[in-house]
Amino acid sequence: MSKVTVVGAGNVGATCANVLAFNEVADEVVMLDVKEGVSEGKAMDMMQTAQLLGFDTTIVGCTNDYAQTANSDVVVITSGIPRKPGMTREELIGVNAGIVKSVAENLLKYSPNAIIVVISNPMDTMTYLALKSLGLPKNRVIGMGGALDSSRFKYFLSQALGCNANEVEGMVIGGHGDTTMIPLARLATYKGQPVSTLLSEEKLNEVVASTMVGGATLTKLLGTSAWYAPGAAGAYVVESIIHNQKKMVPCSVMLEGEYGESDLCIGVPVILGKNGIEKIVELELNADEKAKFAASAAAVHKTNAALKEVGAL
Ligand code: LMR
Repeated sequence: MSKVTVVGAGNVGATCANVLAFNEVADEVVMLDVKEGVSEGKAMDMMQTAQLLGFDTTIVGCTNDYAQTANSDVVVITSGIPRKPGMTREELIGVNAGIVKSVAENLLKYSPNAIIVVISNPMDTMTYLALKSLGLPKNRVIGMGGALDSSRFKYFLSQALGCNANEVEGMVIGGHGDTTMIPLARLATYKGQPVSTLLSEEKLNEVVASTMVGGATLTKLLGTSAWYAPGAAGAYVVESIIHNQKKMVPCSVMLEGEYGESDLCIGVPVILGKNGIEKIVELELNADEKAKFAASAAAVHKTNAALKEVGAL
């Protein structure tokens, strides 16, 4: 029996739970929220789609009752507030750090062996906070930002190429921030062919720029942060772990010397399996990519430093 808990039954958490159930990733999905009745109502609503959609997962909702999350294999943290148009993800740190820290502590009490997937923003720093405050081994705390950003990158590439997003390979590394993410255009391919041979430099630059502000563009349109892609990206990471898929997925993970960085959670490709992070993959970056990675790392270190200022670490 496999069990996944999703904390936060707002737009992102509910989407994540819905995708997990629809894809039958786990036998049981528990949604927990602080707002009375919200998780219970959404769980019931989703269960009433089981016959229509043909899934077999049991979805349970609960209000702040961590006992119901006991013995989860994977827990997903979506708690905290989303950004509003014009805000950066980093500006959420003051509110979200305390929430993420206490949620992570409560989860661990009931699921001491769980792997933790972090979605809350600022995602790299919240991943770092969960890892540091819980003192877990680094394979068990994973930020899902790279999976989301890479999916957006492939979408924008597919739009430029006039193809299906599944025909494109591409990866985004670095921080999950408007200015810190690094879409690796040089390595992106369409049916094995480098996209740099198919798109003009100008077009490729546009794709990179659209990817970087992908979340901000949606926040402006929606008046709040996006949820379908973030929720699905969280579920994609969970599925890779629960089904021991050994898939390579860019995720925010603790570096200890890899890519020349240490004491930092930031997006790099990793192999995901039943132990969480099974391996960190070191790409051969060129000089330009290395410089961008170093700048991204410096920015994430700076955001992490603010954890002390807000009293979270
Ligand atoms: C995203 O990229 O969609 C999320 O990080 C939410 C946001 O605020 O952009």
